[in-house]
Amino acid sequence: MKFFVDTGDVDEIRDLDATGLVDGVTTNPTLIAQTGRNFLEVVEEICSIVDGPVSAEVAATDLDGMLAEGRRLREIAGNVCIKVPLTWDGLKACKALSDEGTQVNVTLCFSAAQALLAAKAGATFISPFVGRLDDIGADGMELISDVVEIYSQYPAITTEVLVASVRSPNHVIDAARMGAHVATLPPKVLRQLALHPLTDKGLAAFVKDWASTGQKIV
Ligand code: E4P
Repeated sequence: MKFFVDTGDVDEIRDLDATGLVDGVTTNPTLIAQTGRNFLEVVEEICSIVDGPVSAEVAATDLDGMLAEGRRLREIAGNVCIKVPLTWDGLKACKALSDEGTQVNVTLCFSAAQALLAAKAGATFISPFVGRLDDIGADGMELISDVVEIYSQYPAITTEVLVASVRSPNHVIDAARMGAHVATLPPKVLRQLALHPLTDKGLAAFVKDWASTGQKIV
């Protein structure tokens, strides 16, 4: 399973990338607004850190605007993946940009039917939002299960399921169990994956016992 980091914070991305665990990055207008920085500069900087796909979302909602913005954003670097919303115009933009050889991430997916359309429109990634579905009392992971199952029926579909709106390590493990290709994780959740209280307790005991030997390795 690939891990993308879901943030516009370049310091976080640089730090996490040093672990070798980061396969890509996703951003959205909300995450960019949180940085208080220029969008194009942030995307350029992220692309200089990470080799994998860096999703940069269009701001326009009409087809011509999305195409113009998508073509501008992809000039930034070869690993820019254009993010378009799952609307009728977004699907048209997905088809046009994909046909031009650009990676496209179709975002704001909340149903299996939408995911099927994105695959047919040539999306590189489909982003079903699990956390936001959970928030309204629906079952986000059920959507992931449905989309993975549907895509697997058709070998011609190359669209990867990118689990988005992830809120906890449980979302990640459930998605991995279902065979989702990618999960995009807030930095906090990626760090949480490494934590276990028994690891901390065990390490504290080893440190104490080692000190009692009075030895040094180097
Ligand atoms: C990533 O591509 C999505 O925009 C992001 O995961 C949404 O997360 P949120 O629902 O926590 O805002």
